[in-house]
Formats: sequence, C-alpha cells, structure tokens
Amino acid sequence: MGLLEGKKGIITGVINHRSIAWGIAKLFHEEGATIGFTYRREKKWIEKLANSVNSDFVRMCDVQNEEQVKSVFDEFGEKYGQIDFIIHAVAYANGEELANGVINTSRKGFLETLDISAYSLISFCKHARPYLREGSSIVALSYLGANRVCAGYNLLGIAKSALETTSKYLASELGEEQIRVNVVSAGPIRTLAAFGLPNFREMVEKRAMQSPLKKNVTQEDVAKTVLYYASNLSECTTGQVSYVDAGYNIMGTWSETGSLS
Ligand SMILES: NC(=O)c1ccc[n+]([C@@H]2O[C@H](COP(=O)([O-])OP(=O)(O)OC[C@H]3O[C@@H](n4cnc5c(N)ncnc54)[C@H](O)[C@@H]3O)[C@@H](O)[C@H]2O)c1
Repeated sequence: MGLLEGKKGIITGVINHRSIAWGIAKLFHEEGATIGFTYRREKKWIEKLANSVNSDFVRMCDVQNEEQVKSVFDEFGEKYGQIDFIIHAVAYANGEELANGVINTSRKGFLETLDISAYSLISFCKHARPYLREGSSIVALSYLGANRVCAGYNLLGIAKSALETTSKYLASELGEEQIRVNVVSAGPIRTLAAFGLPNFREMVEKRAMQSPLKKNVTQEDVAKTVLYYASNLSECTTGQVSYVDAGYNIMGTWSETGSLS
C-alpha cells in the first residue's frame, strides 16, 4: 500500500515537467494520492500533466486573487470531503527588482513578491481550514537564501524568510488540531523560475563540488522529503525546515577544489 493511499490534496506551482511540484506530483501519484492542481495562466501543459497522473481537478488560481484561492479549496473540499495535503510551490519576483539589489527594491515589488511567495501560505491555510482534519499536512518549498545571503537571490530571500517564519506560526496555531506545517528547503534545480536568477547555471555547477555529498539535487530528491512530510511518517513533526541540498547548508568555507581535505 502506498504511503499516501486514501489521501487527497492540492499541489500548486506546476508550470511544466521541470517544476519541482511536478516531481512531487509524480511521486504522490505513485504512492496512491488523489491530486488536484492549480495553475496561474498556463492551462494547456498542466492539463496534459494532470491527466497523466489521473487527475481531473485543474483550476486556475492566481494566489494574489483571494476569491480564486477560496474557490479552489472550497471546490476541492466539497468534491472530496477533506484536504489531507497542500503543497505550496509558488514564488515570484520581478527580474529587474532582483537585478537591482535589495537596496533598490521598490515598495510595489516588495509587496508583490511577499504577497505571492509568503502571504499565499496563510491564504491557503485559511481557506483550506474547513476541510483540513487530523493528520492533514501543509508543505512549502524554500531556499537557503531565507537565512543566508545568496548572491542574486535578494528579494526572494526576504520572501522565503517570511515564508519559513509564517510556517512556524501556522504550525503552532494548527497543531492542536493535529494539522502539520513544514518547509522543505531545496538546493538549486534547473526550473523555469530558477533560470530567471542571475548566474544560476554557474551556481549549480559549483554546488555539486561544494556540497558534502558532492552532487546536485533533483526534483525527485526533493519530492521524497515532501512525501515524508505529507505522509503519516511525520505525524509527530511540525514547524520544521528540512534541507534537501546534499548538505550544502552546513558548509562555511571551501578549498579551491571544493573539498575540505
Ligand atoms: N528551482 C530551485 O532551484 C528552487 C530551490 C529552492 C526552492 N525553490 C522553490 O520551489 C518552488 C517551485 O519553484 P520551481 O523552481 O519548481 O519553479 P517553477 O517555475 O516550475 O514554479 C514556480 C511556480 O510559481 C507559480 N506562480 C508564480 N506566481 C504565481 C501567482 N501569482 N499565482 C500562482 N502561481 C504563481 C508559477 O506559475 C509556477 O508554477 C518555489 O517556491 C521556489 O522558490 C526552487
């Protein structure tokens, strides 16, 4: 029996087959989950992908549109009677804002990025709450730039910091109802969003050398840890941030070759 047999939930943030959320969806499907998908604009691709994991629930949901968020969770909750998991895999920053450095961030850009990338987690939990039940699990995706300065990540780092802290407060508020909220912080992966970041390609190459496990991580690697959090295996774990980055986050300095010896 799959680890998610009988569980039903929503995965956000699939835009194409490279999306981390798509790696999660494939694994969740293999583990027996019933999945609903949301998309921002690009219905064509997501419908094809959703079909391939037997999902007929695909809804538009721009997370800045409160009505759309509410109606997605209401529709899913009413259709299936429960929401066992929610995967938050949504982030956005305007490329110019990122390139100009934090000091030149506009108020408009700041609010937009924080709204899409962090407030949306609150909005998901609020509107899903009537359908969450004992054992439901919310998992959000983050990046090391939340608590370390990562070149070029700039405003997104601030948003990820807010996302991680938000997840802890939500974990505390929902814990009594046995609803868990956790974060998985992934190493760099070649996705559409990531290609918008300056120097992303070089960074990925260096990372493999500099990480203790001497490799980059994949969508599938991240999906396994997200599976742990969505399944009953993690029923006593909430408010955590787990790194799936081949250990990179523990490093302080590197030798020229990337090793410490
Ligand atoms: N790729 C990486 O290196 C990496 C590393 C760590 C964390 N992450 C995080 O993983 C998550 C998924 O990103 P990805 O790398 O798979 O890229 P992706 O481009 O495949 O996914 C980003 C998603 O955000 C969605 N989105 C943006 N604005 C939205 C809005 N207003 N409403 C609804 N959806 C919106 C896009 O439609 C897209 O589906 C993000 O939170 C990202 O920050 C990515």
